[in-house]
Amino acid sequence: MSLLEVRNVNKSYGGRGRSSGIPVLRDVSFALEAGESLGLVGESGSGKTTLIKIVVGLERPDSGDVLYEGVERSSASRSTRRGFSKDVQLVFQDPVSSLNPRMTVRQLVEEGLVIHGLAGDRSGRTERVAEVLSLVGLDPDQMERLPSSFSGGQCQRIAIARALAVSPRVLVCDEAVSALDVSIQAQILNLLADMREQLGISLFFVAHDLAVVRYLCPRVMVMSRGTIVEEGPREQIFGDPQHEYTRALLEAVPVPTPVRR
Ligand SMILES: Nc1ncnc2c1ncn2[C@@H]1O[C@H](COP(=O)(O)OP(=O)(O)OP(=O)(O)O)[C@@H](O)[C@H]1O
Ligand SMILES: [Mg+2]
Repeated sequence: MSLLEVRNVNKSYGGRGRSSGIPVLRDVSFALEAGESLGLVGESGSGKTTLIKIVVGLERPDSGDVLYEGVERSSASRSTRRGFSKDVQLVFQDPVSSLNPRMTVRQLVEEGLVIHGLAGDRSGRTERVAEVLSLVGLDPDQMERLPSSFSGGQCQRIAIARALAVSPRVLVCDEAVSALDVSIQAQILNLLADMREQLGISLFFVAHDLAVVRYLCPRVMVMSRGTIVEEGPREQIFGDPQHEYTRALLEAVPVPTPVRR
């Protein structure tokens, strides 16, 4: 059984009935295994963010389902769905605007712990906040500061700490580094790779930047106009693409050899 499975998902926007409107996702199916890094690439408007919203439960599919540990979300109980939303955490594109500017780092990282009743009382939570801040390379002594006193790269570390605080099994990243400078991108990518390795979590990493996906993800899916047109090991996708659309995508953007540590 896969950790997470997307089964025959369809989604349209703008219509009133079930399948009217503009189709954005068409019969999308894939599985994510425990501890795996899976990448999703595709041009702007191909449906990547829509798929992510459905995976994390921010949107409902018109048809099809998302299964977590073999349980369909649509038919799961409320408490099962809560567990699901704890276990599958999202990191957004723009770290600065995704963090509430009025909340301190402590409050931001603590929020999920409070919502899910984790880490015990206030002192237990403080300990956990300090622990995850250290994990992502931030100084726990700075937890009473506001996001505005941190750089873009540091804010993305805060967002990652916030997601990791609740001990998720899957980290879903939507263009998680595209708003950052290239040198900072490399640091955040290395951090994500480390977290996957150290904590054994799965990554579902969505980006339009092919080099970034190639660096992080051994398995890659290619999406075009709401359909997954090709899926395979990165060596195949980048070295011997089978689908015409993948070839066009690669030709449009030369993929440089990714940075190594
Ligand atoms: N809430 C919405 N209402 C109506 N249409 C939407 C909505 N969200 C997305 N769309 C449309 O769905 C399509 C897919 O959008 P989506 O944001 O999933 O693409 P994407 O692959 O994430 O693109 P990008 O690389 O630019 O982030 C687009 O045509 C978009 O205009
Ligand atoms: Mg998007």
